[in-house]
Amino acid sequence: MLLRSLIVGCGAYLPERVVTNDEMAKLVDTTDEWIVERSGIRQRHVAAEGECTSDLAVAAAERALAAAGMRGEELDLIVLATATPDHTFPATATKVQARLGMTRGAAFDVQAVCSGFIYALAVADNFLRLGQARSALVIGAETFSRILDWQDRATCVLFGDGAGAVVLRATEGTGTASDRGILSTHLHSDGRHYNLLYVDGGPSSSGTTGHVRMEGREVFRHAVVNLAEVINETLAANDLTAGDIDWLVPHQANRRIIEGTARKLGLTTDRIVMTVDRHANTSAASIPLALADGVESGRLKQGQLVLMEAMGGGFTWGAALARL
Ligand code: UT7
Repeated sequence: MLLRSLIVGCGAYLPERVVTNDEMAKLVDTTDEWIVERSGIRQRHVAAEGECTSDLAVAAAERALAAAGMRGEELDLIVLATATPDHTFPATATKVQARLGMTRGAAFDVQAVCSGFIYALAVADNFLRLGQARSALVIGAETFSRILDWQDRATCVLFGDGAGAVVLRATEGTGTASDRGILSTHLHSDGRHYNLLYVDGGPSSSGTTGHVRMEGREVFRHAVVNLAEVINETLAANDLTAGDIDWLVPHQANRRIIEGTARKLGLTTDRIVMTVDRHANTSAASIPLALADGVESGRLKQGQLVLMEAMGGGFTWGAALARL
């Protein structure tokens, strides 16, 4: 017998304020047409003044815990993925921990930008597989609106704020792909490309918070290649083919990247959970937001095989395969 991490609850939270592409066109030289055609984005949610990453994270976490029928104090572990923490330290996860009433176990942040949720999920899954925790809350939460250069049309139209969370519980499995739970996780990074997508600030380098800088076309080019590779690696590790996948729940950066990836897999668009049109790119929050969307809309069902993948600054990229 081997331990698997079962996803027992999903939750999401989006800030109330919605900013449409037409509103963005009043800020920078852009159009709804350009944004939709190049990225698939139609709108994004933006956090209210004073609304922090931890507030979004707690709201999503409470919903995930309710779906799992659990209380915060029962958790052994919180792993929170964010590139937009409330403070330089302590970890935003510790603020969330306190607000959920959890006074034991461990809570910490993971930083892998848009791949953050896959990284956090991998970390929590390994804790559960080793028996170091019996339950874990994995959160992706971001307030990218705070680090955008609102005068740079090449980046500010692409991102949004939000949070998503999943509760994992250790369960016994057989070690085969027919098990429920997370079947495998696959992480990669290549720091040679750190300057193609980064923030030009930070406590050590500049003492300022800084703004997102991106060579969009270059990121796009690498994303298509890296995502295809890590998906093949994931399928091979589980002795599966693309035809076995019920749902692709990808990081939501660009509709063209997502559809290109699905095409390579031979997956039709009705097997993709797509939220980029409504949420834009919410970095580490995009996959758990999409998971919650898929579950709440009744599309994602128990027993189905779900492939998650992401690519982001660093570069970092990765994939996770789970049977719900
Ligand atoms: O989540 C982390 C990973 N991030 C990503 O995966 C993002 C990857 N990259 C992308 O999604 C795409 O590259 C973008 C959506 C960022 C851009 O699409 P693109 O088709 O690669 O456009 P481009 O960067 O090649 O720009 C084409 C043109 C440029 O003008 P010129 O040089 O051809 O005259 C840009 O200046 O579009 C211009 N442009 C805009 N025009 C109107 C750039 N941003 C805008 C804008 N509105 N907002």
